[in-house]
Amino acid sequence: MFSRLTRPASTALRRGFATSSQNNAKVAVLGASGGIGQPLSLLLKNSPLISRLNLYDIAHTPGVAADLSHIETRAEVKGFLGPEQLPESLKGCEVVVIPAGVPRKPGMTRDDLFNTNATIVANLAAACAQHCPEAMICVIANPVNSTIPITSEVFKKHGVYNPNKIFGVTTLDIVRANTFVAELKGLDPARVNVPVIGGHAGKTIIPLISQCTPKVDFPQDQLTALTGRIQEAGTEVVKAKAGAGSATLSMAYAGARFVFSVLDAMNGKEGVIECSFVRSEETECPYFSTPLLFGKNGIEKNLGIGKISPFEEKMVAEAVSELKASIKKGEEFAKSMK
Ligand SMILES: NC(=O)c1ccc[n+]([C@@H]2O[C@H](COP(=O)([O-])OP(=O)(O)OC[C@H]3O[C@@H](n4cnc5c(N)ncnc54)[C@H](O)[C@@H]3O)[C@@H](O)[C@H]2O)c1
Repeated sequence: MFSRLTRPASTALRRGFATSSQNNAKVAVLGASGGIGQPLSLLLKNSPLISRLNLYDIAHTPGVAADLSHIETRAEVKGFLGPEQLPESLKGCEVVVIPAGVPRKPGMTRDDLFNTNATIVANLAAACAQHCPEAMICVIANPVNSTIPITSEVFKKHGVYNPNKIFGVTTLDIVRANTFVAELKGLDPARVNVPVIGGHAGKTIIPLISQCTPKVDFPQDQLTALTGRIQEAGTEVVKAKAGAGSATLSMAYAGARFVFSVLDAMNGKEGVIECSFVRSEETECPYFSTPLLFGKNGIEKNLGIGKISPFEEKMVAEAVSELKASIKKGEEFAKSMK
């Protein structure tokens, strides 16, 4: 059994800034000019794992690509602008990251983004299914609980669906949980690992503090408050930004951490584990996030929920109906599209 003690991803992020590697991945960022897309592209440009970085957006990519291309790292950067250049941006890509779509404003839930982002993600997923069907698809665009079912249905429609290669990026929930636990316990956040399971919205975000490494204990009132803060951390940022959007910098970090883990495993590194919202048989929800062992072809093994506390069991039970509804909404949307 693989130890949940391992935290390969943060090691991978640090390694992302190292100078030597044999790797040559071709990666596309769709929505590369946005609040997440720009800093994410910067972090990816810094990685020796990547030899080609394609930046696609409906605005500003010539400028973003010109700017990033002057950085003295090996990844060759190219900008692609507008739908007619989308196919070219995807050809030959092994990993595609999708932060395209509108972010939340104060008072909005992630589900309020559905009407705009569902179409954006469905169209981008269709282009991926046509032009890079073998790629690892990492969806950041919200509501993740619906955009992953949408992406999966689109890939099914094109006859190229591989559930081991379609990921909802929930890494920011893990990053936040690690940081908040470290703050409360006076630990180095780089050494804390809290698995976060379920989905990526409010009560569907289920931090497993009982599985934290190193082991930590909290009185119930503190545990309840900590859990609530992790679940609403996105809203904390939305409120602080006061209309200027949602988490971008921490999300760029989390997205880069996730991509580096995917690339590390593709390059043959063993024991790479990340939580992600994926097709799943671990619960009655057809999609669910749990720790996953990555391999050369995406998910190698779903490590499942593991042993959890009664408090966490209750959260899982309470998340199921909301998750199922968000999944169904995504599936029905994709099925109704021409
Ligand atoms: N998964 C997570 O944990 C997480 C965290 C934070 C934000 N998000 C989500 O990420 C998304 C992006 O957030 P942001 O702050 O970067 O938003 P933003 O508005 O700053 O950037 C979005 C970018 O997408 C581009 N875009 C719009 N339609 C497009 C299309 N059809 N094709 C390509 N590009 C398109 C826009 O031009 C813009 O550059 C939002 O949906 C947000 O809710 C997810």
